[in-house]
Amino acid sequence: MKTARNIFKSIIGGAFVFGLTASVFAEAPPPRADLNITDNARIRAVTLPATDFSKPEAYEAMQGGATTLAGHHGRDVYTKPAPNLSPEALLNFNLGKALFEKFWVSSPSSTQASDGLGPLYNARSCHSCHLRNGRGEPPRDGDATSFVLRLARPAEGEESQKQIEKMGWVNLPDPVYGKQLQDFAVPGLQAEGKVQVSYGDVEVTMGDGTAVTLRKPSYRIAEPNYGPIDAKTTLSPRIAQPMIGLGLIEAIAPDDILAGADPDDKNGDGISGRAATTPEGNGHAQVLGLFGWKAQHATVRAQSAAALNTDIGISSPDEPASHGDCTSAEAKCLSMADGVQSRLGDSEAPDPVMELLTDYSSTLAVPARRDVGNPEVLEGKQQFYAAGCIACHRSKFVTRRDAARKESAFQLIWPYSDFLLHDMGEGLADGQQVGTADGREWRTPPLWGIGLSGVANGRRFFLHDGRARTLEEAILWHGGEAELSKDRYMKMKKKDRDALVRFLESL
Ligand code: HEC
Ligand code: HEC
Repeated sequence: MKTARNIFKSIIGGAFVFGLTASVFAEAPPPRADLNITDNARIRAVTLPATDFSKPEAYEAMQGGATTLAGHHGRDVYTKPAPNLSPEALLNFNLGKALFEKFWVSSPSSTQASDGLGPLYNARSCHSCHLRNGRGEPPRDGDATSFVLRLARPAEGEESQKQIEKMGWVNLPDPVYGKQLQDFAVPGLQAEGKVQVSYGDVEVTMGDGTAVTLRKPSYRIAEPNYGPIDAKTTLSPRIAQPMIGLGLIEAIAPDDILAGADPDDKNGDGISGRAATTPEGNGHAQVLGLFGWKAQHATVRAQSAAALNTDIGISSPDEPASHGDCTSAEAKCLSMADGVQSRLGDSEAPDPVMELLTDYSSTLAVPARRDVGNPEVLEGKQQFYAAGCIACHRSKFVTRRDAARKESAFQLIWPYSDFLLHDMGEGLADGQQVGTADGREWRTPPLWGIGLSGVANGRRFFLHDGRARTLEEAILWHGGEAELSKDRYMKMKKKDRDALVRFLESL
């Protein structure tokens, strides 16, 4: 941890100092470079937290700004393009969608340009896990269809820390199984093993005596086909995240995110919040991390390239290993055919493929909110503020004027996240360091669209490993920096708890 912080300091330099001092100026953050003085003042006013809960705030229902999809709440609610796409961007969206849904096949194959699958893999298409772009689910009977188990060992001393930096990794992979457990393999090769999850009961009693039973998962790898797993390797279970609004998140001004960070809890509210940093590009420069449950990727493209490589086994200019996550200890895997021979370039998914996939993944509409003016929803919103949820699930941002994607630029958005890392306590800890995130830290997930999770694809499982079966269970797992907030929820009257959950369902 200490080492990670030092690297962070030395590489980020000014930005880190800025993050530290920002909280001192919590009332008046320094102006944003992409805005003039008038806009800075306007935006500060617009993004202040709500104070009047008697009626909805202006534009509150349009939680994705002009990318919001209104009046459409059926099963394809997460699958629509942002309505403000230009005709050209819409064309790219549709081409990207085909790539997102494409099934990759093993090499050699007559279907050239679609081969290169694996040799080890978790799924054959993005869409297999991100079903209709909704969230994933935990494994069932050893079948993990939209879930991955990340593997890593702690760095030991300077040598392994140096290796991590040199490779541009976020941590040290398992020496045999690599960065992730792959539960499928092409014909002729053994898969790595199967994920097994079992649940124990945890009883929780609310202030008014209501009892709730949570399920606490434990994970193991059944039939590890390449020998026993290194005793030091930690397992980090993750369900697939919803795909909506990602381009908007990338368009948030980093200054706005850093201004919320309070790593040493200078304002004494018990909530620190640290910016994640992650190595980016060939030079492995440290940049602000935004995507993934531990904010381990800076851009939608980086996350998508990592998914193609680790989950599907497809190489790209960003992730050039054509054998995906095979390690040198998996010699047979490395000797299997790959899809590079059949390509013009030297990767299975060349730049145009990466660009279209990224366009699609960045421009999915955020559904409009329902019932913003409903009295119970407004009451629940007030309870959400009163319980301090808003300290991490920050309501509003205005995206950069100079954002690379026009449709994402200068939008008032309501993601309900600060995109920072928080210590969430032992109950949610996976013990795995990922970049600057330690084994107890997670990125606050955006809550927009969460009420439509079930409608979108039938999967209503919450938190990083999908252990929570209801929104209330998700709240009750909050610990660490969120302990006080959870306690406040538990002490509420039933009517107020119901209203708070009703508010979440309206997002
Ligand atoms: C095996 C299942 C699986 C496949 C296949 C898969 N994903 Fe994912 N996806 C996940 C999981 C799990 C996460 C959370 C990752 C993490 O935190 O480490 C995720 C996260 C993401 C995110 C970040 C979302 C956020 O809110 O931060 C993006 C973007 C993404 N995937 C894109 C893709 C693309 C593009 C493809 C196809 C190339 C793909 N994924 C294939 C399971 C999958
Ligand atoms: C200290 C910061 C913090 C506070 C305070 C906080 N949360 Fe969270 N919340 C998080 C983080 C981080 C996660 C992700 C944890 C994980 O996946 O293990 C999360 C997850 C969630 C989820 C599940 C989201 C998903 O996509 O699965 C819900 C719902 C939620 N929080 C609601 C609330 C409510 C309601 C409150 C107030 C009672 C609250 N949170 C207070 C940080 C916070």
